[in-house]
Parts: sequence; structure tokens; C-alpha cells
Amino acid sequence: MALHTKFFAHLIVTFLFLVSCPSAFHGDLHDHSDIQQTGYDSEAYPSFLSTVDGSQFDNSMMFEAGASDGLTKLSRLESSGRIINVDRFGAKGNGAEDDSNAFQSAWREACLSTVAVTLVVSQGKDYLLKPVKFSGPCKSEITVQINGVLLASDDRSDYGRDGRQWIRFDSVQGLIVEGGGVINGRGNIWWQNSCKINKALPCKDAPTAVIFYNCKNLVVQNLRFQDAQQIHMAFEKCINVQASNLIVTAPEESPNTDGIHVTNTQNIQISGCTIGTGDDCISIVSGSQNVQATDITCGPGHGISIGSLGSENSEAHVSDVTVHGARLSGTTNGVRIKTWQGAAGSVSNIKFQNIQVHDVQNPIIIDQNYCDQSTPCTQQHTAIQISNVLYQNIYGTSASAAAINLNCSKSFPCRGIVLQNVNLVGEGGGAAKASCNNVNLSNVGLVSPRCA
Ligand SMILES: *[C@@H]1O[C@H](CO)[C@@H](O)[C@H](O)[C@H]1NC(C)=O
Ligand SMILES: *[C@@H]1O[C@H](CO)[C@@H](O)[C@H](O)[C@H]1NC(C)=O
Repeated sequence: MALHTKFFAHLIVTFLFLVSCPSAFHGDLHDHSDIQQTGYDSEAYPSFLSTVDGSQFDNSMMFEAGASDGLTKLSRLESSGRIINVDRFGAKGNGAEDDSNAFQSAWREACLSTVAVTLVVSQGKDYLLKPVKFSGPCKSEITVQINGVLLASDDRSDYGRDGRQWIRFDSVQGLIVEGGGVINGRGNIWWQNSCKINKALPCKDAPTAVIFYNCKNLVVQNLRFQDAQQIHMAFEKCINVQASNLIVTAPEESPNTDGIHVTNTQNIQISGCTIGTGDDCISIVSGSQNVQATDITCGPGHGISIGSLGSENSEAHVSDVTVHGARLSGTTNGVRIKTWQGAAGSVSNIKFQNIQVHDVQNPIIIDQNYCDQSTPCTQQHTAIQISNVLYQNIYGTSASAAAINLNCSKSFPCRGIVLQNVNLVGEGGGAAKASCNNVNLSNVGLVSPRCA
């Protein structure tokens, strides 16, 4: 009986939710224009985009994803019904006046709420924000529902001397961030002042658009990120994260604009994301463990990377990473592991499975001599040990002849590297080559090209 009542209650709230919140399902995630603006030529790769259309932009899928979110959210609302709209705290949403204080006040109230609460950012408005910090611990679970647009201040002096981020969620547990809206870092001014664009300038980091720091049980879904100052979204020191249905876009020329950056984070699932930027679509760095990325569409950009790891002779550990189901198109790398010489630590238990590449310069690459600095890196005797890496079902075309390049450390050769059912050909039918240095490799099934 109790079960029945509960089920019925759920049906009713689901119905009410569907009726009252259509925007949750019909956000502007269906609009491809930003992807096209950044140079992702949808015409050129119809098969890639039709996959995207099927898996991500399809209405019914969004509807289902939204409906289950609705249930989570409504089970929260059932007990509380509490909604806090930033507009009530004086946010104007006119794209010109600074709404930071209103957001901070709204967050403070949400964080003090003893019942579950939804912080709403209205649709159809542009909220201008300077750097803002949303800190926990909070008294209850919070859903941040971004239906509208968050616009970053493009006055660099707003970010303070070592402004490391624009929006920071810090030490919050049980947080959901969603809503179908847009988070726009307006990074142009930062890119122009990057030493990678203007060689005369000193190298300085630009802010990460959104960082989730020290969060536990975190869901980030159904959002669009664009034109970050540097990294679009970083998960740092988090545990139990689900990031799904995210679209990330920035121009191919924008420096260091990684899509999703994972650092020091355990148990994270990234799924159904479409990322095209000027740097790695996904980068996974030190301290990360149990990372799963599934159904990822990547390009333009630098591909999916573990690393870079071990700069300045540091120690780094990454383990249990699975990339399962990815389509990469026009990227500089496909699946990459990059480590600096002179480091210590390990990369182990890595699986790259079911990967399609199209016109990718280095589809499979391990580079243990990574050197991203102006002065050349000298030969060193320590290195990060790479072991147990599986490349399975990897198909497609390589833009360069070097389709497979496993360039491991002379002093710590790679161990347990397996290529299974890998078939890469040169773009336009040209020959593809494999190059393998200092690696203990097994080939299983069809593998082409093969190391000599
Ligand atoms: C491997 O790394 C060494 C040292 O950086 C470099 O000289 C060599 O060209 C690389 N080999 C390939 C095939 O990339
Ligand atoms: C390569 O790995 C296999 C299996 O782990 C091992 O038996 C073999 O000795 C290794 N070969 C080299 C050259 O290290």
C-alpha cells in the first residue's frame, strides 16, 4: 500500500513537472550554431554528427534524461518545495549590470536552507558575473538550475592578481548543476593576451571558467559551456561525479581551453558530451582514479589526454581510466598519454575502447618526452611508469603517416601495452605507420599498422 502511494505520488509529481517545466527539456541544447561557429564542419562529417543527433540532440532522449532528473529534483521538492530565484536578490539579468552580489546572496540563503532547495537562474536573461564563489558545506542538498545565460566579466582586473577561476563551487556535497542554459566565459580578451598567441607576452594562467573543488556526490548535466578564459570546467579533489549531456565549444585557435579537466578526483563518469575547443577535449591529470568517459564527441581540439603528468620533476599517479565510445574528428591527437621526463609515479590500468577517429593527426600516442616549454627539455633518467594500457577497437583515418606512436621512456619502458583490433589508415587512403620505442607490446586480432 505504502509503495503504491509512493508510486502514485511520483506519477503525479512527474506529470506536474512535465507540465510546468517544459524548458527543462527544450533548452537550447538543440541549437548547433555554436558548434558550427567554432569551425566544426558538420557537413564534412555527416556520420559523426548523425551519431550526435541520434544520441544527444534527439528530443526524446533529452526528454527522458530530463524526466529522470525531474524525479530526482521532485523527490527533493516533495519534501520542501523550496525555490530561490536569483532575481529575488536583485539580479538584473540584462548583460550589463553586475549580478555577482545577487548570486552570492542567493547562494548564501540556499546554503543555509534546512530543506532541499533549487536555486533558479531564469531563462531568457543574461547574467553578468565577476568571479564568484559558492562555498559549502551547506545544510541541505542544492540544485542549481541554470536556464539562462551566465556571462563572464571581460574586465581582466575583476579577477584579482592571481585569479584562478571565474565560478567556483567549493566543498559542497550533493550538488546538482543543470538547466539547459549557457555558461559563457567570453575568453577572447584572455586569448589575445596569452603568450601562446602573442609571443612577446609573459606566460600567465587565465581563469578556469567553472571549477568544482572538493565536492562530493556531484551531478553536472544538460548545460552548454562556451569560450572559457582557459579551461572550461575542472573537477578538482572531488569524489563521485556524474557529468553528462554537456556541450563545450570554443574556437580551435583559443589557447589552453580544455573542455573537461579532471584532477585529483575519484569516481567520475563523463558521458554524452560533445566538446570542440582549442585544447584537450578531456584531460585527466594527477591523483585521478576511476575515471570513465563514454559517448564522447571530440573535435576540434587536442583529443582525449591522460596528462600532461610530471612537469618539473613532480610525482604523479593516474589509474583505472576507461574511455569507452568516442568519436574524434580533426583533432591533433586521438587518445594520448603524455608525461614529462624526470618525473616519478605511475599510469596504470587504462582502457581505450571503441574509438572512431577521422582525420586525426596522432590517433594513438604515448609521449614520454613531452615538453611544452620554450627551452628544450634535456634527457633525464627518471620517468613515470606506464603499465597495462589496452587499445581495443580503434578505427578510422590518420591525418599523418604516424598513426600509432608509442614513444616510451628509455629508463622506464612501457609495460603491458595491448593493441587489439586496431585499424588505422591514412586520410585519403595513404599509408599509415606505427612507431614503437621502449615498449613491451602485444598485438591481438587485427592490428594495422604494426610496429616492426
Ligand atoms: C620519440 O621521442 C624522442 C625524444 O623526444 C624524439 O627525438 C623522437 O623523434 C620521438 N619519436 C617519434 C617517432 O616521435
Ligand atoms: C613483456 O611482457 C611479457 C608479459 O608480461 C613478459 O613475459 C616479457 O618478459 C616482457 N618482455 C620484455 C622484453 O620485457
